[in-house]
Amino acid sequence: MGKNMIQDIIRKTRTVRKFQEEMKISQETLLGLIDLARLGGSARNCQPLCYMLITDSEQCEKIFPLLGWAGYLSDWPGPEPGERPVAYILCLLDTKRCKGPENEVYIDLGIASQNILLGAAERGIFGCRIGAFSKDAVGRSLALGNRYKPLLVLALGYPAEEVVLEKMEQDGDIRYWRDADSVHHVPKRQLSDIILEPGS
Ligand SMILES: Cc1cc2nc3c(=O)[nH]c(=O)nc-3n(C[C@H](O)[C@H](O)[C@H](O)COP(=O)(O)O)c2cc1C
Repeated sequence: MGKNMIQDIIRKTRTVRKFQEEMKISQETLLGLIDLARLGGSARNCQPLCYMLITDSEQCEKIFPLLGWAGYLSDWPGPEPGERPVAYILCLLDTKRCKGPENEVYIDLGIASQNILLGAAERGIFGCRIGAFSKDAVGRSLALGNRYKPLLVLALGYPAEEVVLEKMEQDGDIRYWRDADSVHHVPKRQLSDIILEPGS
């Protein structure tokens, strides 16, 4: 393994919201990504998460309007036709496999979704976690029963936008922005701003 491989892939794994819609992702690749989620840590090792793949264009068209895109970009309603995600991974809680408190589920979800996005980035595929969606509407659209609770949507595709990291001043603006060339900028706090001493 190269010296900075993990660091490089973590830096590269940025949220992308515009895609090359003509470039599809194979079912095999998507299953390979979910397999990475499967291997993540899980509180009490309950492994209560499961996943639904949405790839056919009719279903993608049904899901898309239920999703909230880039809340800080108030004049951007989301990707246009031709730049929309080509696949969605819906992450669900299997309530029958959940034995612990709900906050543990969300830790599992963070680990699982990051495994998926890291594995995707390694393959040149990027995506966006979407927490802003109507769980009921998505549940209805996919005819989900009571057992499965939608938690998070991962929208995926080959990227059609550039995303760069920016240094954030101490307690500066957390909002990402797009410049005149449509480059997406993401401010990150600096290391010295997140290290605490005892008694803080
Ligand atoms: C739990 C979670 C939920 C998110 N939900 C949304 C969402 O609903 N819509 C969206 O456009 N981005 C969403 N994002 C993406 C964040 O806006 C993004 O991670 C943040 O701007 C930092 O960019 P980065 O992922 O490139 O570091 C979500 C991210 C996380 C971790």
